[in-house]
Amino acid sequence: MNNIIILGIESSCDDTSAAVIKDTLLLSSVIASQSVHEKWGGVVPELASRAHEQNIIPVVDRALKEANVTIDQIDAIAFTSGPGLMGSLLVGISFAKGLALTHNIPLIECNHLLGHILVHFIDEQGEDIPHPKFPFLTLLVSGGHTQIVQVEDANTIKIIGETIDDAAGEAFDKCAKIMGLPYPGGPVIDKLAADGDPKAFKFAKPNVPDLNYSFSGLKTSFLYFLRDRLKENPNFIEENKADLCASIQATIIEVLLIKLRKAIKKTGIKQIAIGGGVSANSGLRSAIEELGKKHGLKVYLPKRKFTTDNAAMIAMSGYFKYQLGEFTDYGVVPKTRKK
Ligand code: KG4
Ligand code: ZN
Repeated sequence: MNNIIILGIESSCDDTSAAVIKDTLLLSSVIASQSVHEKWGGVVPELASRAHEQNIIPVVDRALKEANVTIDQIDAIAFTSGPGLMGSLLVGISFAKGLALTHNIPLIECNHLLGHILVHFIDEQGEDIPHPKFPFLTLLVSGGHTQIVQVEDANTIKIIGETIDDAAGEAFDKCAKIMGLPYPGGPVIDKLAADGDPKAFKFAKPNVPDLNYSFSGLKTSFLYFLRDRLKENPNFIEENKADLCASIQATIIEVLLIKLRKAIKKTGIKQIAIGGGVSANSGLRSAIEELGKKHGLKVYLPKRKFTTDNAAMIAMSGYFKYQLGEFTDYGVVPKTRKK
């Protein structure tokens, strides 16, 4: 099936987003990020749903205008049904239902995590973007998730490893908070780490079986380490900020890579992709590239604009589901949990 136009809607956390895709070609992508959470040092669910409610109509309207399509040209509306925050998901789902009902357009529910994985299939005008071949492995790293996913095809995934506590993005954010850095801490640490020595400080790595991860211990050992150093020198953080950022970033990356290497060995899969907010991290991106060179792997790094939450990935996922005729009825409700 060709020339299928899908409107994607994403509202699972704190970004209200809409995008239009024609087959795999992205026609528009609009994201309204919510700055209201910054002063609270994390996403406040109640505030997030209110902001989605304010943003959703203008965001969808702009996405259609920028794509130069009218609502009646849309073949299906793809929306995120989960995982995510209940109130946030409800805004996107209810809006999608209303729009679909009014214009008699089929609905397609999409999984947020699968969306992050499928960003590697989005094409953009005038660009030759390489797409992974199935099966491939994805290291999915965001503020809410840390998983190693075996992707069999565009609709079938197998989670072969995941965090038993905090996500990698949470580790970045919490360590940043401990240092008094603003939220979200991941991008700030990334920036400061560029001028620091990744070997300056050592932090204990977790010991979790199989392909699973744990990041809560790392955050605690970082906290205790700083508490001890601050007793000796109250300016310790200020004087060592870049080295602290570089060292904690290097530790998180190494923890991520230990299990990824294990997964590559176990599955024999040589196509490796990364996705999710943390996949924007410069250190992680170079470490993955290096891993690829060293082990003869084909590596796929998403464009930075597709690393954080966006509706282009949902529209992309909707396109694949459209091909299978996987439509959703109006009784659909948010699926807040990961499974
Ligand atoms: O995928 P995402 O936008 O939302 C979730 O689904 O969670 O990911 C947000 C997470 C935050 O924890 C943020 O600190 C982290 O991604 N992040 C980064 C970078 N950019 C965003 N972490 C490390 N380095 C970055 N450059
Ligand atoms: Zn996400």
